[in-house]
Amino acid sequence: MFLSRTIRAAVSHSAKQVRSLHQSAVRAGAGGVFVHRDTPDNNAETPFEFTPENMKRIEAIIGNYPEGHKQAATLPVLDVAQRQHGWLPISAMNKVAEVLEIPPMRVYEVATFYTMFNRQPMGKYHIQICTTTPCMLCDSDSILAAIQSKLGIKVGQTTPDKLFTLSEVECLGACVNAPMVQINDNYYEDLTTADIEQILDELKAGRMPPPGPRNGRFSCEPAGGLTSLTGPPPGPGFGVRTDL
Ligand code: FES
Repeated sequence: MFLSRTIRAAVSHSAKQVRSLHQSAVRAGAGGVFVHRDTPDNNAETPFEFTPENMKRIEAIIGNYPEGHKQAATLPVLDVAQRQHGWLPISAMNKVAEVLEIPPMRVYEVATFYTMFNRQPMGKYHIQICTTTPCMLCDSDSILAAIQSKLGIKVGQTTPDKLFTLSEVECLGACVNAPMVQINDNYYEDLTTADIEQILDELKAGRMPPPGPRNGRFSCEPAGGLTSLTGPPPGPGFGVRTDL
């Protein structure tokens, strides 16, 4: 009896510890809601038609797939819809289903699974800050705090002028350039708080700051210069036994 009570207490204590260690980020700003609820700006009647240019693009995309497999184009066609509208109201998803001649549910399944599809209105610039371990160890917390304080919004919110939406995301695959953020299609890397403030100022002023590392290095090369592959490559036969 005493033993089982002790075990129960230990389990309960460690469960509390686990809960206090991890808390998932709320992604309300991007793909956060998994269930659609009609709102005044997001319902089946929300106007959405592909532009003639985008219809041509879609025909070209569908042409990449064999006859009878239009459904395979769901991801790129959803992407075209989102780029045109800025986000994906349910009417846009219905239009994608109509163009691909598939049931709307097949489109909803894809749009709700991939977090790059935004089913709520977004700001002109979608800032996605990575706070996964390598970025966190390089102080992504200070970058997040700088963004929040400069824009006056929290994760999942959009600025009142509809210019910026802030999301917290998992690893964006640029760990070697941590800490980093993605803004629309661009990566801004090796950031300091001064860098991110300058980037936001540029965007507010209507200019597009150049993407990439901010510490002067090229791409993800070593910051202190090359440490390997510094000479011309050896010719054929290098390292092969002389008796062969
Ligand atoms: S952990 Fe931030 S890009 Fe990988």
